[in-house]
Amino acid sequence: MIVAYPKVTVVGAGNVGATTAQMILMNNLADVVLIDIVEGIPQGKALDMMHSRSILKFGPTIIGTNDYADTANSDIVVITAGVPRKKGMTREDLIDTNSKIMSSVIEQAYEASPGAIFICVTNPLDVMVYLAYSRSGLAKERIFGMGGVLDSSRFAYAIQQATGADIADIDALVVGAHGQGMVPLAKHSTICGKPITEVLDAETVSACVKRAIDGGGEVVRHLKIGSAFYAPATSIAKMVKAILTDSDEVMSVCAKLDGEYGIFNLYMCAPVKLGPNGIKEIIELDLDEEDSAALKASAESIAASVDKLKLRG
Ligand code: APR
Repeated sequence: MIVAYPKVTVVGAGNVGATTAQMILMNNLADVVLIDIVEGIPQGKALDMMHSRSILKFGPTIIGTNDYADTANSDIVVITAGVPRKKGMTREDLIDTNSKIMSSVIEQAYEASPGAIFICVTNPLDVMVYLAYSRSGLAKERIFGMGGVLDSSRFAYAIQQATGADIADIDALVVGAHGQGMVPLAKHSTICGKPITEVLDAETVSACVKRAIDGGGEVVRHLKIGSAFYAPATSIAKMVKAILTDSDEVMSVCAKLDGEYGIFNLYMCAPVKLGPNGIKEIIELDLDEEDSAALKASAESIAASVDKLKLRG
C-alpha cells in the first residue's frame, strides 16, 4: 500500500540532524529531506538510510540535498545546522558562529516552506530561536525550540540512577533556559505520581538537579569533540510526532512567553501542548516562590544574551 506521508525537512546533516532523520523514518512519521551546506554528506547519509529500508520495512523515504528547492512545502522544518560545543565550552560560546548560520538557514528554509512549523535545535537555543523568529516574521506559535524535552529526560535519568526506580514510573520536568540556567522543577517531578521532594531527602534531590543541569556537559566531556545527539534526536522526534498526531501530550518546549510565568518577550522552556499548527497551549503551573525566583533569574540570563544581538524591540 502506498501511503502519503507528511514532509519533514532536517537542516544540518551532522550528528543531531542525521540521527533525527533516522528516528523519523524508523518511526514511520514522515518523508524526510536532509539538507546541508556540505556537498555529498546529506546525499550519502540519505542513501545509507535508504539502504536500511528493506531491512526495517519503514514506509517513508529520505533524500539528501544542498538545494532548498527540494525542501519546498515541508510540513515541519527542523534546524540543527551549526557548530556543536567542544570540551570546556558552554552553549553560549557558540553564539557568534551559530547566529550567522541560523540567519542564513532560516531565510532560505522559510522562503521554501512559509507554511511549515519550525523547530530550532541549534545552540545556544533560547537565543537562536529568538533570532529565527525575528528574522522570519513567523507567528510565535509556529516557531519554537527543542530543549525542555531533552533536559527533562536527563533529569529523569538522574532520578532513576539515584533511586533505582523504574524509568517508566518517573515523570520529570525542566523549564527555563536550555543551558546552565535551566530550572529542574523537583516539586513537579514525580516517582509513581509522588513529588520527588516528598520521597527523597534534600541532598539526593539536589544531586539529581545538578546532574540534570550538567547532563549535556557530562556527554561532551566523554566525547571531547562534539556534543550529544542520540537523546537530542529522540527529543526532536517526540516533538515531531506530537505535532503530526495532535497527541495533546504535555512536554517542555522552548516557546515565546508573553506574560506566562510573568515573563515577557522571551523564548524559554515551559510545558506546552503541540498540534498541527504548532503550540496549542502554554500550561501555567502554580510555582512556589523559590521556583518562580529561579525561573526569573533564568529569564534574565537569556535576556542578556538576546539583547546583545539587539533582537528585541
Ligand atoms: N547550512 C546547512 N548546514 C550547515 C550550515 C549551513 N549554513 N552550517 C553548518 N551546517 C552543517 C554542518 O555541515 C554539519 O553537517 O551543520 C551540521 C552540524 O553537524 P555537527 O557538527 O555534527 O553538529 P551536531 O552535533 O549535529 O549539532 C548541531 O545542534 O545540539 C545542537 O549544540 C548543537 O548547535 C549544535 C547543533
